[in-house]
Amino acid sequence: MSYISERPVERVTIPVLQRWRGEGRTIVMTTAYDAVSARIADPIVDIVLVGDSVGNVCLGFDNTLPVSMTMMNHHLEAVARTRPHSLLIADMPFLSFHLSPEETIRNAGGLVQRGADAVKLEGGAKRVEMVRALVDCEIPVMGHLGLTPQSVNVMGGFKVQGRKADDALRLLDDAHRLQEAGCFALVLEGIPAELAARATESLNIPTIGIGAGPSCSGQVLVFHDVLGLTEGNRPKFVRTYLTGFQLLQEALSRWADDVRKGAFPAPNESYRLPEGLADEIAKWAPSKST
Ligand code: KIV
Repeated sequence: MSYISERPVERVTIPVLQRWRGEGRTIVMTTAYDAVSARIADPIVDIVLVGDSVGNVCLGFDNTLPVSMTMMNHHLEAVARTRPHSLLIADMPFLSFHLSPEETIRNAGGLVQRGADAVKLEGGAKRVEMVRALVDCEIPVMGHLGLTPQSVNVMGGFKVQGRKADDALRLLDDAHRLQEAGCFALVLEGIPAELAARATESLNIPTIGIGAGPSCSGQVLVFHDVLGLTEGNRPKFVRTYLTGFQLLQEALSRWADDVRKGAFPAPNESYRLPEGLADEIAKWAPSKST
């Protein structure tokens, strides 16, 4: 019997998350980009995020900047068709929430109409106007602060944020502004553990950490990182529970070897004609031209 860590049957909603925050219950979130990953993750985690990390994890880009609304809609639709019981959040990609409140609402509204329970967007004080516009339209918003991958060019790489006093204080101020603007939760990514702890204890909304130490209200890791499906150097906060890439390649190699040596397909993996018809067909078939 294999081991499955199941969350309680309760359907996860935003009021439920708020209640869990009060009860001190730890929230578990991962990403899904298609129906397979959604079906694997949904019974186990509390929140499924269709992250714009789909760009680098699945689509071969170096970062999340080329990810468009069309791409996000496509992957969200695949996940939403599985009708997850966990809270389904969709990321707003680069440039989808920067130009005007109208365009931000239209893009976020499209995600909700495709099945997202809420949207997530990166940034602090500069994005408060857009957060308010969405919350005014009844679209729940999760904020995202710290190492925000859409700011990779400004940060000069994927670097830990909030290590200097003014950066740390700005992050705390941003976190409170987002809470005031109506965010129901915040992702804190790539910041010192002490800073994430300070943010978490001073906010009423839950914080979900990724590379932000153990004191957040919950933790998120990318599905493909947890399963060892991503290649190359992973950040130190990624704990991998499977050498998935290697195991999948080994399994596929065994099948390829069976094909090459004629051991696949076996008789029980083949369909047969009814008794006698094979002989009839042999008579009808033209013989191979020489
Ligand atoms: O896009 C993403 O996967 C994310 C998580 C890592 C928080 O934003």
